[in-house]
Amino acid sequence: TGMFTFDPGFLATAACESSITFIDGDLGQLYYRGYPIEQLAEHSDFLESCYLLLNGELPTAEQFAEFNRKIMRHNMLNDQIMSFFKGFRRDAHPMAVMVGVVGALSAFYHDSLDINDAHHREVSAHRLIAKVPNIAAQAYRYNKGLPFSYPKNGLTYSENFLHMMFSTPCEEYKVNKVLAKALDRIFILHADHEQNASTSTVRLAGSSGANPFACIAAGIACLWGPSHGGANEAVLKMLDEIGSVENVPAFMEGVKAKTHKLMGFGHRVYKNFDPRAKIMKETCDEVLNELGLRDDPKFQLAMKLEEIALSDPYFIERKLYPNVDFYSGIVLSAIGIPVSMFTPIFALARTVGWISHWTEMISDPGMKIGRPRQLYTGSVRRDYAQVADRK
Ligand code: CMC
Repeated sequence: TGMFTFDPGFLATAACESSITFIDGDLGQLYYRGYPIEQLAEHSDFLESCYLLLNGELPTAEQFAEFNRKIMRHNMLNDQIMSFFKGFRRDAHPMAVMVGVVGALSAFYHDSLDINDAHHREVSAHRLIAKVPNIAAQAYRYNKGLPFSYPKNGLTYSENFLHMMFSTPCEEYKVNKVLAKALDRIFILHADHEQNASTSTVRLAGSSGANPFACIAAGIACLWGPSHGGANEAVLKMLDEIGSVENVPAFMEGVKAKTHKLMGFGHRVYKNFDPRAKIMKETCDEVLNELGLRDDPKFQLAMKLEEIALSDPYFIERKLYPNVDFYSGIVLSAIGIPVSMFTPIFALARTVGWISHWTEMISDPGMKIGRPRQLYTGSVRRDYAQVADRK
C-alpha cells in the first residue's frame, strides 16, 4: 500500500546525504572532501588521501605518521587466513578469492566488531585498508604457484603492493619509483566515486547492522560485475581482439554500426570529459616512456584508437571521451600486472571509499535500514489448489 516514486536504476533518487565526494559531471570535476582530484593526484599520495577520505581533513605531519604506523601495524594477515587461500582452486579468479577472504576476516576480530563503538569502527577501517592489498597480492601469488609473501614496512603503500606481488624469496622486487607513483595515482583516482553501485551495496548491507568486513565483501562482489569494475580489463581484451593498427578502420566501422563498443570511452556522469582520464593519460605517457614501450604494438594501437576517436564526428557528436579505465588498463598492463588483477586493484583502491561511506552512515544517529519498495506486477489474490486439482 502507499504511493512510491518509481525509479529503477536510481537514475533520479538521492539515497543519502554525504560529505565525502562531489562529482560535477557537466563540468568534468571530482572532489574528495572539497579537494580537486587533480591536486590530490599531483601532490598527495594514496595513504594521505585515505586519511582525508576517512577523516574529512588532510593530516598534520604527526597525524600522518600515526596513521601510517597504524596501517603498517595491521598489514599482516593472520596465519590461519593463509589456509583459506589454499582451499581455492589455483585457477580461481582473484576476485572470487577476495570476496571470500575479506568476508572471512570478520571471523578473526570478534572482540572489535561493535559497530556502535567508534574505536571498533576505526580499527576495522584500518584493518581493511591495511590488509586488502595483501589479500589481493596473495590471491595473485596463489594463482601463479608462487609462495606467499609478506608486507615490508618502510615502503609506501603502493611500493609495498608491488613488493608483495612480485618479490620472490630468491629475488627482491626492485621498486621502480615511476611505476610505483603511477600505481599510486591509479589508487587515488579509484579511491571513491560517491554512490556508485558497489558503494551503495556497502551502505545497504551496512544499514542492517552487518559488520564492516561483511559489508566490504558485498562491495567487492558488486564491483566484480563487468558494467562496474571490469571496464579496464575489457579495454585490454579489446586491444588483443583488434590485434594491430591495420585492423583499426574496420573495428571503427563496427563501432559506428553498433556491433561493438569502443571500450574505455564514454561515461554515465561525465559528459564532457572524465577528469581522472586526463590525469591518467599523463601518467600513461610517463610509464610508457619510462619502460621504453612507446613503440610496442599494443600501446601504439591504443594511441591510434584514441587519436581516431578524438577526431571522429561519431564520438564528438555523442560527447564520447576516453574514461579513466582506457588509460589505467594500459598503465597496469605496462607495469606487468595481469589482466585478472585489474578488478582486484580497483577493489583495493575503493576499499577506503567504501569504509568511509560505511563509517559516515553508521555514525549518523538518524540512520535507518535501507529498505526500497517495489511496484508489484505479480498475480492478484488467489486460493491454494490441491495438487490433483491443478491443470
Ligand atoms: N563506444 C561506442 N559508442 C558509444 C560508447 C562507446 N564506448 N558509449 C556510448 N556510445 C554511444 C551510444 O551507442 C549512444 O549512441 P546513440 O545516441 O546513437 O544511441 C550514445 O553514445 C550515448 O550513449 P549511452 O549508452 O546513452 O550513454 P550511457 O551514459 O548510458 O553509457 C557507458 C555510459 C559508460 C555505459 C558507455 O559509454 C559504455 O558502455 N562505455 C564503454 C564501457 C566503459 O568504458 N565503461 C567504463 C566507464 S568509467 C568507469 C567508472 O567510472 O565506473
